[in-house]
Amino acid sequence: MNSVATTVLACCVGAIASVQRVPGRAQYGAIEARQSTTEYAAHTIDQIIDHFPNISRYEPHTSATFKQRYFFDDSYYKPGGPVFLYIGGETSAESRFSNLETGIIQILMEATNGLGVILENRYYGESFPFETSTTDELRFLTTEQTIADNAYFVQHATFPGVNATLTSPHAPWILYGGSLAGAQTAFSLKTYGGDDGLLWAGIGASATTKAKLAYTEWYDPIQKYAPQDCIGSLNAIIDNIDQVFATGNAAAIHKMKALFGLEALTDNGDFAMTIAYPLGGPMNYPTNTWQEIIWGDNGSQDFWLFCTNVTNLDAPENITQVDYALSQYTGGEPWANLGNYANYVKQYLIPICDGAPINSSACFGEQNITYWADTANSASRSYLYSTCTEAGLYQVARPHGPTLISRQLQVNYTQRWCDWSFPRGKHSSIPATPDLWQINKYGGYNVSAPRLAHIDGEQDVWLDICYHSNDAPKRYTTSWEDAELHPQLLISGAGHHWDSYGIKNVSGEPQFIQNAHLWEIRTVERWLRSWNALKGIGGYGSGA
Ligand SMILES: *[C@@H]1O[C@H](CO)[C@@H](O)[C@H](O)[C@H]1NC(C)=O
Ligand SMILES: *[C@@H]1O[C@H](CO)[C@@H](O)[C@H](O)[C@H]1NC(C)=O
Ligand SMILES: *[C@@H]1O[C@H](CO)[C@@H](O)[C@H](O)[C@H]1NC(C)=O
Ligand SMILES: *[C@@H]1O[C@H](CO)[C@@H](O)[C@H](O)[C@H]1NC(C)=O
Ligand SMILES: *[C@@H]1O[C@H](CO)[C@@H](O)[C@H](O)[C@H]1NC(C)=O
Ligand SMILES: *[C@@H]1O[C@H](CO)[C@@H](O)[C@H](O)[C@H]1NC(C)=O
Ligand SMILES: *[C@@H]1O[C@H](CO)[C@@H](O)[C@H](O)[C@H]1NC(C)=O
Ligand SMILES: *[C@@H]1O[C@H](CO)[C@@H](O)[C@H](O)[C@H]1NC(C)=O
Ligand SMILES: *[C@@H]1O[C@H](CO)[C@@H](O)[C@H](O)[C@H]1NC(C)=O
Ligand SMILES: *[C@@H]1O[C@H](CO)[C@@H](O)[C@H](O)[C@H]1NC(C)=O
Repeated sequence: MNSVATTVLACCVGAIASVQRVPGRAQYGAIEARQSTTEYAAHTIDQIIDHFPNISRYEPHTSATFKQRYFFDDSYYKPGGPVFLYIGGETSAESRFSNLETGIIQILMEATNGLGVILENRYYGESFPFETSTTDELRFLTTEQTIADNAYFVQHATFPGVNATLTSPHAPWILYGGSLAGAQTAFSLKTYGGDDGLLWAGIGASATTKAKLAYTEWYDPIQKYAPQDCIGSLNAIIDNIDQVFATGNAAAIHKMKALFGLEALTDNGDFAMTIAYPLGGPMNYPTNTWQEIIWGDNGSQDFWLFCTNVTNLDAPENITQVDYALSQYTGGEPWANLGNYANYVKQYLIPICDGAPINSSACFGEQNITYWADTANSASRSYLYSTCTEAGLYQVARPHGPTLISRQLQVNYTQRWCDWSFPRGKHSSIPATPDLWQINKYGGYNVSAPRLAHIDGEQDVWLDICYHSNDAPKRYTTSWEDAELHPQLLISGAGHHWDSYGIKNVSGEPQFIQNAHLWEIRTVERWLRSWNALKGIGGYGSGA
């Protein structure tokens, strides 16, 4: 695990970068821990930059192409086997290698004699269409262009050294994606699937298919499932902090920030964001959170250790005394565990800045317009662009009721980054607020297509924008046929696309994960039988 200087983009991501947001990310810190052991060769396809010469938002159009990278594993492949297309999502293809080696693609390849291929998302890794990422150059980074890449790829991909014609429709293509890539999987199936389509089937894992502007629900699973003594003190401390902000008393606010060592953060939102980091700050955070906990041995301990710090019964007196430092603003009542919380920030967060001034962009200052306007290509910039233009999902505090992050964190705090980062270009400008319809037009959390599977985690921070959202209709599978055409599974106790991880031994996995994997294998096998039935083939993987 990258213990220092990582920034995890919140959604769907998990891209890891430094606090300076140097890209070099993997999905979640946890994933980064799995160093890849295999060297896959990079291949590229000449991909079309603009798939929609008739849609005015892409004007002026271009007929140019860019080099889009892909990596494949044919070690399990036998003639007649399927192709598993792993959708890269918001990170480099390299950081997805574990899915071919030990994860879900390995499991499915082994079960079906399939070939696995990772396609790197446009504007990530080394698949940037342009040298820089100005507002104009980013105009082709949209959901519809991204899923059109998938449709083009399945028709034109070549696999040097593999003696088979695998382009669609000669072989069944089955997509898999987690998080944002899961949503892209769902939208790809909806647009290019079906019996006569280019894509035969797909699995959207924790597919974040619903766009909304403010996503307060991110913190709900933490409220609900995290150790409640920790959560109780945090809710109360945040309430008190917001009361002090509400007084507008500059001396009190300064004193409060100073307890955390953060008096240099003039912007109240920056202070609120920094103390939210152990829980998950809006868009990015330098240590791992609830989202980065995974089953098995590779999950991050950061969140649990934060909570054991906050609830430490044995803290020295000079730390417990801090609980009284602001009691004059709460009718003489101490703020239980404030000293522990503040000490954690000082001991474990601030050192991540490695001596950079607290208020600088290299540390926790978020108000540097020059920094945001830097047009260098990076995953965090591409991800922010999609957030600002289509997805939204700004992590904000609920205005009423318990909240783990300060109510200073509202939509306008995040929106400023959009406005600073993407000034109007010559041809293109970002909307005043994300155009959510560009995502919701596919059906939101109801998105449905033949042979599109939805698999979600009960304790995932992104659950409420997935198929099994608490806001969605209750989900039932009503027949054996329904289980093939519209498969769905909510894994008990699981987090963000936990089914994507494996240990190369399904029978050695914990029971809920093991049975999720067995369900995925059966579902894929049924899809392959129906493919063979449609094509009049005797059986897959048998040389047919
Ligand atoms: C774009 O418009 C032209 C001219 O109207 C038409 O011939 C072409 O099929 C359209 N292309 C697409 C991709 O819709
Ligand atoms: C490729 O596959 C075809 C058909 O299965 C077979 O006839 C041919 O010998 C194979 N070529 C090589 C180089 O393996
Ligand atoms: C922190 O940075 C902001 C924006 O750059 C600036 O306005 C403010 O004065 C800085 N605060 C301190 C204490 O330097
Ligand atoms: C506090 O957190 C740090 C960093 O994660 C950890 O090393 C330490 O053991 C924790 N302390 C307690 C009392 O939980
Ligand atoms: C508490 O005392 C210890 C030991 O003297 C010191 O290292 C630490 O910085 C103090 N902590 C606070 C919050 O004053
Ligand atoms: C602001 O950002 C620019 C460009 O990244 C950087 O050179 C400068 O050091 C930053 N200033 C502060 C105070 O963070
Ligand atoms: C956001 O809006 C609130 C309420 O209107 C306001 O108090 C706050 O100053 C605004 N914050 C920013 C960063 O614009
Ligand atoms: C999802 O489907 C339900 C029932 O069919 C419908 O009531 C609801 O409005 C749909 N939600 C969205 C976001 O489309
Ligand atoms: C954890 O990582 C190791 C080393 O990369 C890997 O062998 C193991 O399968 C992983 N475990 C899980 C549960 O993903
Ligand atoms: C897989 O896990 C099972 C159950 O723990 C164990 O008995 C078996 O030896 C493991 N197989 C391998 C190849 O590690």
